[in-house]
Amino acid sequence: TSNQMWGGRFASGPDAIMEEINASIGFDKKLYAQDIRGSKVHAEMLAHQGIISVADKDAILGGLDTIQSEIEAGTFEFSRRLEDIHMNVESRLATLIGPAAGRLHTARSRNDQVALDFRLWVKEELQRVETALTRLIAAFLDRAEEHADTVMPGFTHLQTAQPVTFGHHCMAYVEMFGRDRARVRHAIEHMDESPIGAAALAGTGFPIDRHMTAKALGFSGPTRNSIDTVSDRDFALEFLSIAAISATHLSRLAEEIVIWSTPQFGFVRLSDAFSTGSSIMPQKKNPDAAELVRAKTGRINGSLIALLTIMKGLPLAYSKDMQEDKEQVFDSAESLELGLAAMTGMVRDMTINTDRMKKAAGSGFSTATDLADWLVREAGLPFRDAHHVTGRAVALAESKGCDLGELSLEDLQAIHEAITDKVFDVLTVEASVASRTSFGGTAPAEVRRQIAWWRARN
Ligand code: ARG
Repeated sequence: TSNQMWGGRFASGPDAIMEEINASIGFDKKLYAQDIRGSKVHAEMLAHQGIISVADKDAILGGLDTIQSEIEAGTFEFSRRLEDIHMNVESRLATLIGPAAGRLHTARSRNDQVALDFRLWVKEELQRVETALTRLIAAFLDRAEEHADTVMPGFTHLQTAQPVTFGHHCMAYVEMFGRDRARVRHAIEHMDESPIGAAALAGTGFPIDRHMTAKALGFSGPTRNSIDTVSDRDFALEFLSIAAISATHLSRLAEEIVIWSTPQFGFVRLSDAFSTGSSIMPQKKNPDAAELVRAKTGRINGSLIALLTIMKGLPLAYSKDMQEDKEQVFDSAESLELGLAAMTGMVRDMTINTDRMKKAAGSGFSTATDLADWLVREAGLPFRDAHHVTGRAVALAESKGCDLGELSLEDLQAIHEAITDKVFDVLTVEASVASRTSFGGTAPAEVRRQIAWWRARN
């Protein structure tokens, strides 16, 4: 039998394969609440404008409420033959209220309908991501406060660079996730325009009020161009790009946790709640959650590339290709939310091994820059010369198998006569971090200032 929505010009129904490739109900049923909300607002507006009767509008609203309860109770029968969420809902409405159901689709197309439903969903998802980011930032702020004085090695090229504090390192992630949250907020503003009323692509001759529907749906106003409205999936692409950037941050954090939790580093110990054991090696405690967060970044990046690729060749306006937007976004949203929650748990729960961090901070000649800076400050050497002198001191310490601070004054004076025993004051890791008081630097007092700045904004 031919389709009940457009069967007029069709003699037969679709091939089974046609139905299979065409149907989206398997995933777009996730949009049921947005679809029903949009339909109710549309029906109210149609009645307000005198396009449908108040009695029909009331029947439609009642029927839609019933459908929502049925879906939420799990009693609604989704049908693949009805292709997508829009037609599943409309078909059920017809069964429930009869001919009035047929008036709901006046001045509307599934093209503006799906653009509305999906945009509402993405907007709500961004709000969930915003909350999850706020929680993760809060976890880092607490750990940073607790460890504002905990010295650890700072790395470049994963080689010991200069001592920093663990609090400072935590605050680096606060900056990263803070930027993600700013992007989320900006995107929410960006997609704050209502697509409904663009109809198929050209608008409609019915006297609709798009400002009324926009307002009722919580948008700041209607979109301006009906062709763009049904062609546009920038809001989904923006979601995916934001998700990809944020997942990249999560992945770098995951990578650090994997490294830090090795026995060789031993900087952190994951809680039992966020690690797993091995079925053969009894001693093992594995950072599986961190590894999976790292891996999910690959899925999210893949989804961004997938949707960009889907969209890149599409002529205006709507093409069915665009139906493939949803799974990419749904999958990424799930991965991102899970990653943010898992990381928040790991960060809150992990034990920081301050002794190991401090010991590592002092190895690898991490205070060499402090020695060079001292020579500039106290002996008046140009920095390049101080760098060279310090390099010789490092080579000597390396040959003796000791740290810079363990060289004797005689050894140091043999390298440069201006060195006095005052130099030893700057060769400890504590003195090193305490000296870095420049704005944004690692000195505990400066890190505490950064924490306070963020606390006032989180
Ligand atoms: N299921 C479709 C989608 O997700 C809804 C829009 C269909 N519009 C159309 N003209 N076939 O994109």
